[in-house]
Amino acid sequence: MTTAAGSAGTLEQVLARIARQWSRWNASVRDHPVRPTLSEQELTTRMAAYDFERPRALDETVEDMADLLERGSLHATHPRYFGLFVPGVCEAGVAGDALAAIYNPQLAAWWHAPAAAQVERQTLAFFRARIGLPESAFACFTTGGSEANLTAVLAALTARFPRHAEEGLSEAKPVFYASDQAHDSFVKIARTVGLGARAMRRVRSDGQQRLDIEALEHMIAADRANGKTPFLVVATVGTTGTGAADPLNGIADLCRREGLWMHADAAWGGIALLSARLRPSVSGLERADSVTWDAHKTLPVPMGAGMFFVRDRRPTDAVFSVQTAYVPDAAPGTLDAYQHTIQWSRRFIGLKVFLTLAALGREGIERMVDRQAAMADLLRQALVAARWTITNDTQLPVVCFVDERASSSQTSALARHVAEEGRAWISEVRLPDERRWLRACITHADVDPPDVRALVDALDRARVRSTSRRG
Ligand SMILES: Cc1ncc(COP(=O)(O)O)c(C=O)c1O
Repeated sequence: MTTAAGSAGTLEQVLARIARQWSRWNASVRDHPVRPTLSEQELTTRMAAYDFERPRALDETVEDMADLLERGSLHATHPRYFGLFVPGVCEAGVAGDALAAIYNPQLAAWWHAPAAAQVERQTLAFFRARIGLPESAFACFTTGGSEANLTAVLAALTARFPRHAEEGLSEAKPVFYASDQAHDSFVKIARTVGLGARAMRRVRSDGQQRLDIEALEHMIAADRANGKTPFLVVATVGTTGTGAADPLNGIADLCRREGLWMHADAAWGGIALLSARLRPSVSGLERADSVTWDAHKTLPVPMGAGMFFVRDRRPTDAVFSVQTAYVPDAAPGTLDAYQHTIQWSRRFIGLKVFLTLAALGREGIERMVDRQAAMADLLRQALVAARWTITNDTQLPVVCFVDERASSSQTSALARHVAEEGRAWISEVRLPDERRWLRACITHADVDPPDVRALVDALDRARVRSTSRRG
């Protein structure tokens, strides 16, 4: 379909314009501030021009949007974005999303898009093999880690309460466990599935932000004594705050003993499975009943590309299978995704991941991850040399640190100063005991030693600025 307004700039021209934008941005990204520079007022004024009353030429609108995005974003595609788990994007990832948009295959049913479905199946098999789950495991792409975690909770509930899918929870009082460092998506999930947020038991973590197994055992016993029904333990592999991995083998043993479902939330920590060097730090992950792993947090692909893996797909089938009067039956030997996942219409999430795997190859991906880990090591050394104290203990590429002399509010101010200056971006993490640490994640694949140096210099300037204010 072409639109009247689209004829002013054909798709070819517009895509060529976008490709030039890509090259220009990547060639000059380090000259740009990481933070947004567009004022709220300009944004409001510019957007007021769009009332959608009359069609506008596509090429002009694309040009305008490119400018707004360039000046109105905190740039995760900037190598000095040492921020949340949002890697930059590579050509293959961008090409994948563009190509998927052109054909827009409907992946709800295998027969509707057999080529796309096979591409996703093969892509997911690569990650499943890295986890160490058997070939019989079921896997699907998700919008992100939250959807994958939601699917895990539903699977665990249904495995423990087989009538749940048809009858709801009735008299059961299910509870599940996750550390005080686990991702807060589980709070939303507990509410969404009707358990209520209190059904999520927060287990205290130890001095290295890992779930304390002894505390977990006591909580399970106490909940049972109080008439509750434990059904799931969430093990976080790579906590969002400090990159800690819960004791996976200990949790797997406990789950086996207690008859509980083990879900590994490796949304970011799955990155360790791509490197021979990092892999031992997440040993035991392969014992989980289900796993969350986000390609969009661990590879340079555009959001959203989450992944969900389940060892035995019967509980998810019980949750998601439906009888429809209007969709043709599945072809023999194939699975229709809408019968096994929460999505119905399903976009081609996997192509950008597939193209990235194909472009980099397994060894290229391993080199990329090892390089990120090496840049984190370099950052640790540079911080120590500049009299910062490293506070977390992980081989994964996230570094937490403090200036021992700074109060909590001064620590927050340091993160703010770095962000405001715009040469780099870091965040802070608040611990359950109210301590605050600075947090720098090597999430971009192109971080190089001068970027690390630039961050340490920016931190030193922030320290001088806050010391002079203190003075
Ligand atoms: C450990 C962990 N799990 C789950 C999520 C949620 O993932 P998403 O933002 O893709 O929904 C995050 C997000 O940062 C995370 O760090």
